[in-house]
Amino acid sequence: MKVLITDPIDDAGLERLREAGHDVETAYDVDGEALLEAVADANALVVRSGTEVTAEVFEAAPDLVIVGRAGIGVDNIDIDAATEHGVIVANAPEGNVRAAAEHTVAMSFAAARSIPQAHARLKTGEWAKSDYLGTELNGKTLGIVGLGRVGQEVAKRLDGLGMDLVAYDPYISEERADRLGAELVEFETCLERADFLTVHTPLTPETEGMISTGELELMGGGYLVNCARGGVVDEDALAAAVDDGTLDGAAIDVFAEEPVSPDSPLLDVDDIIVTPHLGASTEAAQENVATSIADQIDAAFAGEPVMNALNAPSVDESVFPRIRPYIGLAETAGKVAAQLLDGRISSVEVAYEGDIAEEDIELVTASALKGVFEPLEWQVNAVNAPQIAEERGIDVKESKRLQSEDFQSLVTVTVGNEQDSLSVCGTLFAGDDPRIVRIDGYRVDAIPHGKMLVARNADKPGVIGFIGSVLGEYNINIAGMFNARRDEEGGEALTVYNLDDPVPAEVVETLLADDRMIDVKYLTLNGADDGEE
Ligand code: NAD
Ligand code: MLT
Repeated sequence: MKVLITDPIDDAGLERLREAGHDVETAYDVDGEALLEAVADANALVVRSGTEVTAEVFEAAPDLVIVGRAGIGVDNIDIDAATEHGVIVANAPEGNVRAAAEHTVAMSFAAARSIPQAHARLKTGEWAKSDYLGTELNGKTLGIVGLGRVGQEVAKRLDGLGMDLVAYDPYISEERADRLGAELVEFETCLERADFLTVHTPLTPETEGMISTGELELMGGGYLVNCARGGVVDEDALAAAVDDGTLDGAAIDVFAEEPVSPDSPLLDVDDIIVTPHLGASTEAAQENVATSIADQIDAAFAGEPVMNALNAPSVDESVFPRIRPYIGLAETAGKVAAQLLDGRISSVEVAYEGDIAEEDIELVTASALKGVFEPLEWQVNAVNAPQIAEERGIDVKESKRLQSEDFQSLVTVTVGNEQDSLSVCGTLFAGDDPRIVRIDGYRVDAIPHGKMLVARNADKPGVIGFIGSVLGEYNINIAGMFNARRDEEGGEALTVYNLDDPVPAEVVETLLADDRMIDVKYLTLNGADDGEE
């Protein structure tokens, strides 16, 4: 598999990918046409914040399975476009949290004590001791905007240094803030009370520009530290506020555009200290995020759950071995059901009974949907199947029942159209041997594999012989079959055939021409088509 890396990552990640046998290519600083060309045959793309992964990139990369972000922020990746193309987007949200928190603390001290300014002057031989009178953090109030992973680590560190903590984050609970010793307050209160304001939100339409002239005026003095994302703080407003003394200073690691233009007003104001997006730049953090992404790429290639997938159902590693066989079973049941029901599918219900009902089955349901949509020839996988269902107005339901009458676990996929519905139930024999055990109410014991014929016919003598002889005439070998009747003798019966050879449409027509036949469907599973399996 080809893994394309367009922003530098730690060697440990490259080595892990190579050891796994992947073809690792690096193409740093590519954009525009060059990026589209480089990604054309890639199966995985690894980026940091430098590469813009737009909808065009996904269009240009038909074989792409996963985009790995070696870091946290994914504002440079069009996740909706990724989902549309069935591409997983995964990040490494844990690996650089401590590094980013430490950088925030370092920048707070550096701004409060004018360390970079004093350092620069001393390097030119100037002993400017009397020009710098710093501020202690001890006893001051820290305002935290965004109390997520980094915000919480900053809270712990600065709480330990004697600061009072207030925080604004509309999405976390008061208990969580309490446990960190922070008082959860409204945004305006946070700004008003903060002597130091540290920003730790993602860049979203909601947070873009959330700190501008009015908000900086509310701070009325103090320091602003942004090691999160550039667009959250309005750069012109911040430069003006520090320049005219509304704020005492600021420390900025991230910029709306990176690399920052030499003309940026932030670079002109002496009391604004800057670093070139170094928050995550420690050896440990880079090794962590690079190896985490390498592992997730491997998992994606192996069809296993991707731990930090942002647009695909992810499953706890400890749960995965238990649900793994059901992923294929649900997909197969979905495929069989979709191929047996005529007309436009308007609803899909996936029902779980028995032991499987106790598990986290989000990925199993996504796989059932994949199975339903695949025969309809949509470009589908477990990443985009739920979205495809939504876009096509297909009603998706999931249900669970802890008891199962006949089986330890049963997965039933029911597809419906405007008039009708049809259910296919699957189970696992001996733990991992998939069987279809009911089709449209008929009890069967069918091995779901390869080329199959499902025939519904009048329960009369000679019908099975007739079907066998038609298949024989066309040189179609029967590998196995299972016959079941619905109720009593003389009613309707259903027969499932496993075949070695493809069934031309003509055969189905010949069978249907006999008035004892009610319905005949040729199904293909496991990638079997009219050619080779
Ligand atoms: P996170 O998702 O764990 O936390 C973000 C927090 O922001 C969440 O608690 C969320 O509820 C909160 N939030 C969202 N919208 C908000 C709003 N409108 N107002 C207030 N709070 C809001 O993310 P994280 O891992 O803590 O990362 C935080 C930021 O730091 C991200 O922007 C990330 O990209 C950035 N980061 C930068 C560096 C660097 O090198 N400078 C390194 C790591 C992370
Ligand atoms: C991140 O979001 O993880 C940071 O911006 C770190 C980075 O990749 O430089």
